[in-house]
Amino acid sequence: MYEQVAHSLLNDILNRIKPEISRQDLRHFYTRLGANFYAIHSLFDKLYGDRPDFNKQAQRLVETMARKYIKRPENLREIDLAREKDYNWFLSQKWVGMALYCTGFAGNLAGLRERLHYFQELGVNLVHVMPIMLCPEGSSDGGYAVSDFREIDPLVGTLEDVNRLAEEMRQRDILLVLDVVVNHTSNSHYWAQQARAGNPLYQDYYYTFETRNVPDMFEQSMPEIFPETAPGNFTWDEEMGRWVMTVFNDYQWDLNYSNPAVFIEMLNIILFWANQGVDILRLDAVAFLWKKIGSTCQNEREAHLILQLLKDCCQVTAPGVVFIAEAIVAPVEVIKYFGEDAIIAKECEIAYNATFMALMWDAVATKNARLLNQGIKSLPVKLERATWLNYIRGHDDIGLGFDDRDIVLCDYEPSSHRKFLVDYFTGQFSDSHARGLPFGQNRKTGDTRISGSLASLVGVEHALECGDDQAIDDAIKLILLLHGMILSFGGIPLLYYGDAIGTLNDDSYRDDPHKKGDSRWVHRPSIDWDKAARRNTPGTVEYKIFSALKRMIAVRKEVEVFADFNNRELIEVENPHLFVFGRYHLSQSSEQVLVVANFSNTPQYLNLEDVGSWGAQYGQLVDLVKGESPDIFKNSLVIPGYGFYWLTEKK
Ligand code: GLC
Ligand code: GLC
Repeated sequence: MYEQVAHSLLNDILNRIKPEISRQDLRHFYTRLGANFYAIHSLFDKLYGDRPDFNKQAQRLVETMARKYIKRPENLREIDLAREKDYNWFLSQKWVGMALYCTGFAGNLAGLRERLHYFQELGVNLVHVMPIMLCPEGSSDGGYAVSDFREIDPLVGTLEDVNRLAEEMRQRDILLVLDVVVNHTSNSHYWAQQARAGNPLYQDYYYTFETRNVPDMFEQSMPEIFPETAPGNFTWDEEMGRWVMTVFNDYQWDLNYSNPAVFIEMLNIILFWANQGVDILRLDAVAFLWKKIGSTCQNEREAHLILQLLKDCCQVTAPGVVFIAEAIVAPVEVIKYFGEDAIIAKECEIAYNATFMALMWDAVATKNARLLNQGIKSLPVKLERATWLNYIRGHDDIGLGFDDRDIVLCDYEPSSHRKFLVDYFTGQFSDSHARGLPFGQNRKTGDTRISGSLASLVGVEHALECGDDQAIDDAIKLILLLHGMILSFGGIPLLYYGDAIGTLNDDSYRDDPHKKGDSRWVHRPSIDWDKAARRNTPGTVEYKIFSALKRMIAVRKEVEVFADFNNRELIEVENPHLFVFGRYHLSQSSEQVLVVANFSNTPQYLNLEDVGSWGAQYGQLVDLVKGESPDIFKNSLVIPGYGFYWLTEKK
């Protein structure tokens, strides 16, 4: 859009631009800047317009984008152009992801490069490598306390290793996802050290206070994220002689985005990583970017403006790079991270579907899909060109973050239902074989979250100990059922490392003083590659899970209606144990797939009349996973305990 004020500022900026920038061939840069500048200007103005140095900061912003464009390698510029043309590239069903810790998966970056064939064997072609940047020794929140955003942790390798990894992944058509921890730095970051030394310029990078007055006001409305290990949201720093805001751990200092210098630094870091060949950037803890007294300091309007601005600026320099929002928040809030008042995504293109994740765990515990159906029904529709990351487990805990109203609509009482779930997954009932651990227990609010590996949560560990083959097989069915959901729901399925080979809880974190207070470490394993080799030995747990997943992934990639164009219809059926939805083509084709999942351990029936035209002709259905017709009895589809189908019409 052409708008006079913005345009005249842009003219001024371009006139003043440094000669080393203006001498370059910046054709594509200028077209993109022209297209986005109106939006960039108005967002920057909303956030920082009342500052006397506004124009100077705007100049720095544009120069930052230009410098990073100049440094962008030619092959990445070509990818930008190709993705600008094929702009729905990330919505395709061909992507299947995995999240991992480099150290736990392969020791270091060189080891990871040697294991790339493992992803290809399974069919994974999008890999999220969790933080590998320099962080404090000892406690570092699993790398999420960064001490230098451009330096790799020497224990995992060097920047060159990252470049080589990115290059080799590209040759294999595997996307690389890395984190940028935008909300905070570690207390040993240069900025924090400067702030500690009394430099006011850097104290303004954080929220620091001489007295408890303001912190106390904030505390009245701010929840605690890690109530057991890091109660409160502020930490007294002896050296600085000031309080500093630390929402997560006391060594993670929250950045102050009301200072434009912080925004520009972070944009520069994002573009730095874009230029290293990263395809997708995971922006960590984005809900927390803006702090306001009297609020929870999450999901504030300005946090969204910051993300929109980051997106608009990134599009100018590196339009081929997309963002993942890590916002583990209520369903009505999470949807806003794609952008508000828009048709197509304008903030982050991808967001974690924590709602679906938590709802599936509810279905596992209750053995019925009532809350799952209700919760999905209430999940707002996404924007276009936006997609979910659908996952079962990740490196964090399981938060029971579904809506209380949905719980009530299912005739449960919210707090006792949540208590039931925590008790179930921590194995408090005789019929629960889950081996989860409580996480983030908050005595004041009664909230508790859950840690534990997928296999241990669904009962593999218990069944192995009892030597109960039937129970082992049931637990494996459940693992496959859950993957059957994330692979077909719509969005990018994100597997968690270790889950494809049934990795159990790892208690060794208890011996490490820096980890023992944080039960999330129980599900951050080191892969035992000898054990992993059993994935090729028929009859083993590893084989049963891995070979079935491999097949499901291969099938998913061939099913076009699994691409995510908001082409899903939830189908409500009478049988409460079933979760049923249809996937269809938006255009010409009549192709459609009916997904039917049974969360109970006993066989269930689905009256095909319940599903209308989705049922096709009885007897004409075929399950894409097994390649067989499902059993039909008296016009009803029979679904075995913990079974699921991807049904289509026989050709
Ligand atoms: C994100 C990470 C989590 C970390 C937190 C603070 O939520 O996923 O592991 O503890 O941010 O950085
Ligand atoms: C909270 C935060 C999320 C973080 C998690 C770590 O859920 O919202 O960002 O990953 O805590 O446990």
